[in-house]
Amino acid sequence: MQLTEKTIDETKQGEAFAPIDSQNEYDKKFYIESYGCAMNFNDSEIIASILYDNGYGATKNIEEADLVLLNTCSIRDKAEQTIRYRLNHIRGLKRKRKGMLVGVLGCMAERLKEKLLEEEKLVDIVVGPDAYRSLPVLLHEAQGGQRGVNVLLSREETYADINPVRLDANGVLGYVSIMRGCNNMCSFCVVPFTRGRERSRDHNSIIRETKDLYDKGYREVTLLGQNVDSYNYIDSDTHEEISFARLLELVALAVPSMRIRFSTSHPKDITDDVLYTIVKYKNICNYIHLPIQSGSTRVLQLMNRTYTREWYLHKVDRIKEIIPNCGISTDIITGFCSETEEEHQETMTVMEYCKYDLAYMYFYSERPGTLAERRYEDDIPEEVKRRRLAEVVALHRKQTLENNTKEIGKIHEVLVEGPSKKNEEEYCGRTDTNKFVVFPKGKLKKGDLVTLKIESCNGATLFGCETEA
Ligand code: SAH
Ligand code: SF4
Ligand code: F3S
Repeated sequence: MQLTEKTIDETKQGEAFAPIDSQNEYDKKFYIESYGCAMNFNDSEIIASILYDNGYGATKNIEEADLVLLNTCSIRDKAEQTIRYRLNHIRGLKRKRKGMLVGVLGCMAERLKEKLLEEEKLVDIVVGPDAYRSLPVLLHEAQGGQRGVNVLLSREETYADINPVRLDANGVLGYVSIMRGCNNMCSFCVVPFTRGRERSRDHNSIIRETKDLYDKGYREVTLLGQNVDSYNYIDSDTHEEISFARLLELVALAVPSMRIRFSTSHPKDITDDVLYTIVKYKNICNYIHLPIQSGSTRVLQLMNRTYTREWYLHKVDRIKEIIPNCGISTDIITGFCSETEEEHQETMTVMEYCKYDLAYMYFYSERPGTLAERRYEDDIPEEVKRRRLAEVVALHRKQTLENNTKEIGKIHEVLVEGPSKKNEEEYCGRTDTNKFVVFPKGKLKKGDLVTLKIESCNGATLFGCETEA
């Protein structure tokens, strides 16, 4: 569910902006920075839509903003520290610019609530993930000098009727949230507390939004949720129960020329139906993000992941059996409470078995209020957590190089995403299995599907050349 290609114990951080359509059209300008997962970035696009409807236009220049918003993440302590650091910087700007309002939105807003107003005197509004519709009212009050908080969580809110304003998008890859919240209680995780109960969005609005993306030129959509496999929606007309597999099918049929991805799958919930649906529709990508977290059954139990090592490995076998060339990626946490060296080794052996194409790796960061914080001691010293993380990262690097080397000589269809960051003369894109490829521009343009032969590689990137299909 992460946005960047690879993250090693770093909170993904990005800045998302929309162009101002016309300098005069909006009375006021807002600037928004987004942190955390793809769902949070997608929320910023919903927030932008609400602000556009209320007289605010976006700016890329924080110095000229009347309203500065940080859409925050709480997943690890470091994520929150980054926000504190940013707020410090913004404090200086606010001193220079009278009347500028500052808002903290998202998961950290939800976690800290009123405390944020007490601790950070520059903050004018604090708004949680389910309360963005109240932004205009809170802003109005803040203009009158009244600082405000709305962190009410909802059992229904999915923002289904709001058409997100695509912020700083490359125009090819789009993201659509299909559900909100999470009902799992992984003991290390703050998300159930910051995002509330799980709820699924009306499938008709998901399809409408995806078609709209296609009409605007987008050629790939990622369906987002903390646990997409538990998507469940009852159609109000037909009373049909729409499962995730059915939703995938409906989207695949609605936009047959668009690539479809999804994230994140929970190993306990992904069904054979989903796997068969991936096989059945060519436009659903052969790629599954299947976080394991730990390779030890005892640690998994403490984490409340509700599957064992064997169950997970069986799932991976099943995926490879049904979708032979499926790309598989994972998330791993090292140094969870009471993890022994042997248990850490079990994580390494799972990696050896699965040969992940991509892994997001972190060391455990205790989060206030979570089950783990209440029940277990955070007893692994930080240097041990970091050393275990370094071992996991080194193994993953070795494996990605091996995996990539095996791709040399193979033919892949790649969606052109845009110029490569390192060399403007080259394009980059991804294979169906989510491998990152760089290739000469030729006569290609963004959004084209191109057939490439892989000629060389390094640990992170494949290099290809156009070839006949
Ligand atoms: N819903 C998704 C991901 C949620 S957060 C899922 O279930 O997979 C993304 C990743 O952050 C998690 O998969 C986990 O690996 C990591 N993470 C979550 N809480 C953490 C913590 N307290 N310390 C370190 N990593 C954490
Ligand atoms: Fe957190 Fe677990 Fe829910 Fe993922 S499934 S968001 S890790 S509680
Ligand atoms: Fe996402 Fe971070 Fe919240 S990962 S759900 S923004 S805690």
